Amino acid sequence: MTLPYIDQLLAQLARGNPQLERSFGRHIHWGYWPDPAAARPDQAEDYGRAAERLSLELLDLAGIAPGMRVLDAGCGFGGTLACLDERVERLDMTGLNIDPRQLQRAARVARPRPGSTLRFVAADACTLPFADASFDRVLAVECIFHFPSRAAFLAEVRRVLRPGGALVISDFVPSPFFAPFGRLPKLRALRRINVLGECDTSCTAAGYRALAARAGLRVTTLRDITRHTLPTYAFLKHLAQQSGGSRLVRGFSAPLIGLLDFYGRSGLLKYSLLRFDRG
Ligand SMILES: C[S@@+](CC[C@H](N)C(=O)[O-])C[C@H]1O[C@@H](n2cnc3c(N)ncnc32)[C@H](O)[C@@H]1O
Repeated sequence: MTLPYIDQLLAQLARGNPQLERSFGRHIHWGYWPDPAAARPDQAEDYGRAAERLSLELLDLAGIAPGMRVLDAGCGFGGTLACLDERVERLDMTGLNIDPRQLQRAARVARPRPGSTLRFVAADACTLPFADASFDRVLAVECIFHFPSRAAFLAEVRRVLRPGGALVISDFVPSPFFAPFGRLPKLRALRRINVLGECDTSCTAAGYRALAARAGLRVTTLRDITRHTLPTYAFLKHLAQQSGGSRLVRGFSAPLIGLLDFYGRSGLLKYSLLRFDRG
């Protein structure tokens, strides 16, 4: 799988880009502002705090207690695990990603406190290399739309969760009307300018309930937090204007960001937190 935005981010971080270090150096996801009107879209530090806050919203929903075994699937740079480690003791944590380059950085970002353990595993989230019932909680922050199959991922999560365990994710959930447009066509021409890579944002709330039931899970929370994430787009526009990326990508970024902003504001694509419970 090719994700051009990850390649660009890694290249810019390797060059020591201070803005990106502060905004996306720990988390590769949207920000959460409790009061969106107070956001400062021109400040990388403000974005970094909002990204941390988004992880906290997920962790609150996951209800992780001392002693639990936690898997973060698609863990990126390990920011959510680092955030969790700062709050809860005696954890057995695993970060999994398909891209070993990100795991190298994650090993520097997230270092477990004494009494907790953390390992990183390079693998596909749809074929989890873990025994049955080996986790109390699974997290997947803003990455399920890249996975080859939501159904395969949910089936794997059901298998590796112990009875009574839970999965918490964030995803862009389309309105039923918008769902057919939630998949970017796999056109060769688009591949050159699509910085996001392959994304499937066509799974509606009803689609999630059906997929979960088929996998032996139950959607117990679905919270639309779009309003709190919208300042992300103003910050991304600010970044794109200053970007050192190729002209082609720079040219495409602004319209793409504008489109995502419009989808969010109009309710076509809802940034949502979901919790699935295994009975
Ligand atoms: C938007 S980033 C989110 C990263 C991280 N969860 C965070 O919130 O900072 C999407 C992540 O999904 C990962 N990813 C994509 N396909 C994957 C797969 N099949 N299995 C595991 N990870 C995958 C990418 O490498 C990337 O780290």
